[in-house]
Amino acid sequence: MIVIEAAAESDLPQIIEIEQEAIAPPWTHGALLGEIYREDSFFAVARLDPRSPPLLGFVILRRMGDDGELLQIAVDKAARRRGVADSLMAAALEFTKEASAGTIFLEVRKTNEAAVGLYKKHGFKTVRTRKDYYSSPVEDAIVMKRTRKDYCSGPVEDAIVMKRSVDHGS
Ligand SMILES: CC(C)(COP(=O)(O)OP(=O)(O)OC[C@H]1O[C@@H](n2cnc3c(N)ncnc32)[C@H](O)[C@@H]1OP(=O)(O)O)[C@@H](O)C(=O)NCCC(=O)NCCS
Repeated sequence: MIVIEAAAESDLPQIIEIEQEAIAPPWTHGALLGEIYREDSFFAVARLDPRSPPLLGFVILRRMGDDGELLQIAVDKAARRRGVADSLMAAALEFTKEASAGTIFLEVRKTNEAAVGLYKKHGFKTVRTRKDYYSSPVEDAIVMKRTRKDYCSGPVEDAIVMKRSVDHGS
């Protein structure tokens, strides 16, 4: 069972460990910490049991005006291809419904087949490419978007067995 819950400061060491292997360039500790406390941000982690290690992955989606932007999603290398990202993505998209965010945008490295496959599965469509957008290594970005009517169907939502809303007061 994959459990999705709001990220806490105590999760940061494991988040950073996953991020440093998975994302280039990784975010700083300060940037991740700030994201935990933003009210317009959905920052969630996946694990097998609530509040117990190990942490399998995380997602950050921020509301921006009337829309939203998927900023980060990563899964521990040892836990990939088991539906963890599906569950994280479904929870993040549920948040966008609750927050009434309209179109969700994201950027992804052109050669990142796993991420592009994940995004397409969840209803994202390619908008354009941005030449040499990324550094270390230099690579084009694909800009993708998912509008409210880009419906995501299937058993993905069923994979969520628990979702705490990102209410840092509770
Ligand atoms: C992209 C990533 C988050 C996917 O995580 P995951 O937990 O392995 O993904 P899931 O098992 O939930 O798979 C969901 C869907 O993603 C796609 N996918 C995942 N891995 C894939 C791969 N290696 N090749 C092609 N498609 C893939 C498939 O569409 C899959 O659906 P399916 O199983 O029905 O075919 C993971 O590979 C990762 O952390 N990569 C490094 C970080 C990264 O690139 N993040 C995105 C940019 S910020």
